[in-house]
Amino acid sequence: MHTRWQGKCDACGAWNSLSQESAAAPVTGAKASARGKGRVFALEGLAGASLETPRLVSGIAELDRVTGGGFVPGSVILIGGDPGIGKSTLLTQTCAALAGRGSRVVYISGEEAVAQVRLRAERLGLTKMPVELAAETNVEDIIATLSAGPPPGLLVIDSIQTMWSSAIEAAPGTVTQVRGSAQSLIRFAKTTGASVILVGHVTKDGQIAGPRVVEHMVDAVVSFEGDSGHHFRILRAVKNRFGPTDEIGVFEMTGHGLAEVANPSALFLAGRDLSAPGAAVFAGMEGTRPLLVEIQALVAPSSLGTPRRAVVGWDPARLSMVLAVLEARGGLKLGQHDVYLNVAGGLRVNEPAADLAAAAALVSSLAGAPLSPESVYFGEIGLSGAVRPVAQAPARLKEAGKLGFARAIVPANLKDVTDGAPLALSSMSHIADLVAAIAA
Ligand code: TYD
Ligand code: MG
Repeated sequence: MHTRWQGKCDACGAWNSLSQESAAAPVTGAKASARGKGRVFALEGLAGASLETPRLVSGIAELDRVTGGGFVPGSVILIGGDPGIGKSTLLTQTCAALAGRGSRVVYISGEEAVAQVRLRAERLGLTKMPVELAAETNVEDIIATLSAGPPPGLLVIDSIQTMWSSAIEAAPGTVTQVRGSAQSLIRFAKTTGASVILVGHVTKDGQIAGPRVVEHMVDAVVSFEGDSGHHFRILRAVKNRFGPTDEIGVFEMTGHGLAEVANPSALFLAGRDLSAPGAAVFAGMEGTRPLLVEIQALVAPSSLGTPRRAVVGWDPARLSMVLAVLEARGGLKLGQHDVYLNVAGGLRVNEPAADLAAAAALVSSLAGAPLSPESVYFGEIGLSGAVRPVAQAPARLKEAGKLGFARAIVPANLKDVTDGAPLALSSMSHIADLVAAIAA
């Protein structure tokens, strides 16, 4: 916060990004008591009521999984993603799917003209769907227009950064405007029971631009991720008041819109080089769903005083830790080597269970010894070098077996894994076992 006009933000160094905001007038006296007529409800009496309003199910399974079984009436979802990743495409398809199921669906574009939105719908082959379109940026106008008819089942606002409210004295696009507009739209959702989706742009460092506050105001935050060089798109719930936050939906961008990917493991493993050193298949989990991905490492002698460490799709801090453990407990010398780690396919892996696969890829690259293309890896590595068990081992093994893998390199003392597992298991209790097995 700055108490006077200032061109540059002290916190982030950006120019001309500050906007003036006056403190909200306190609610006092008669006004307060007139407004203070809250109603209370008995919790037990509400049980049946909450079940009466069913969720809006889109029928797009990858989307419904992420929302936790459909959109909740009266709820607000913020969907963030890089420009061009496919947010408008996904939402156009969502609108069409819901309109096709009989809901009143309204799509408000603040960025594109109606003709452009229609052009996209044409490309998607969805022009027959009864979706109402408007190009509008004033929140009061939008709400007034919508109040004329029956409340919509779904309202899409593309994007929240283009919205402005006449009640607020600030330029469109400023934090104050975005927050104020979001507040009005959230109130609209709560009072009419419409499900509202707000599109939010994401800045280079991956944050939903400007209004981080909006993230706290909405019921769910979903991010739409992907790498512009790849066709995969991942929809991931970051926050969800009405469902799980660890589920993902996988899509593929095609010439006519986003296609659901029901078997992502096969997609992520397609086209891997079976004979190159430095590649390990990680048997991961995304929520309740197993997902196999290839982790690639390149370890090469460095010509720099401080060797390079670069990682795509994984936590750099986690890589540093695995490297440190490999040096201290596994006897490897990595101090003079550049290290690159990449999760193939543009996926982001967040699980500590990927430690063992990353370590195997690193050791394999350093030793120049390819790993067996028939093996998968999972396990967490502790600072002591111990390989620790992880959750959901049976589901990981089952998926690997289904995709034709013959062996799994797993932590010792795995629970819930009985004989007759679909593939042969090699247990590792310490990182040194892994180094010995690969470099031998
Ligand atoms: P868009 O949904 O406009 O992205 P966002 O709203 O997140 O900015 O999609 C942009 C990209 O998707 C654009 O580069 C074109 C591509 N695309 C396809 O490949 N196939 C399609 O069917 C459509 C509609 C878009
Ligand atoms: Mg868009």
